[in-house]
Amino acid sequence: MTTIRLAEAADLDALIALRIESETWLHAAGIQQWVDRERGIRNLREGVAAGVTYVVDDGGTVAATLTLNGPDRDFWTDEDDPENALYLYKFIIGPAHRGTGLGDALLDWACAEAEGRGKALLRLDCWRENKSLQRYYLDRGFHHVRTVQVAGRGSGALFERPADLRTTTRSLTSAVTDEC
Ligand SMILES: CC(C)(COP(=O)(O)OP(=O)(O)OC[C@H]1O[C@@H](n2cnc3c(N)ncnc32)[C@H](O)[C@@H]1OP(=O)(O)O)[C@@H](O)C(=O)NCCC(=O)NCCS
Repeated sequence: MTTIRLAEAADLDALIALRIESETWLHAAGIQQWVDRERGIRNLREGVAAGVTYVVDDGGTVAATLTLNGPDRDFWTDEDDPENALYLYKFIIGPAHRGTGLGDALLDWACAEAEGRGKALLRLDCWRENKSLQRYYLDRGFHHVRTVQVAGRGSGALFERPADLRTTTRSLTSAVTDEC
């Protein structure tokens, strides 16, 4: 059974493995994204500790992860009404589950989370130079808001999607019972 639940400390090794596999895959494809491994792992640790990182558990294996949190104020300004959105970070699907439709189901699930928290939008920032990844989000109902350049950040292409949008009928069993 495929279930989504909050990540626990015991999931950290699997989450770090997902991140490293993903970096290796991207770099082998010549994609310059996620070049700072230490920062990536630190972010995952902080997300788990803060209770904002989720894992997709497929029969006891961590198949994917995503983090839902507040706005990154390097990118989103007061004019963006930043509290009216939920923000997607560290979205990773492991190799065995990529291209299976799990990504679409997870984006729908994140939108439902946003709606459930009274937010109108699901937002994300992604790598400025990565047009292929940006196409991925455009194809799934996201709109490009703008691209901003911040010193020391490779990310900065900003996207958003209405929280009430659904693109697939596939749903995930949620073991998330308490969003406090
Ligand atoms: C993004 C991701 C979660 C989507 O998973 P999915 O819904 O199963 O979709 P797929 O993995 O089949 O990817 C769809 C297409 O996007 C491409 N793609 C995915 N991530 C990409 C990336 N970071 N950069 C460039 N292209 C990417 C895939 O190569 C694929 O291209 P194709 O259709 O030409 O084969 C998954 O590909 C992943 O974990 N990517 C690496 C981590 C990442 O970039 N996360 C997003 C951070 S904002």
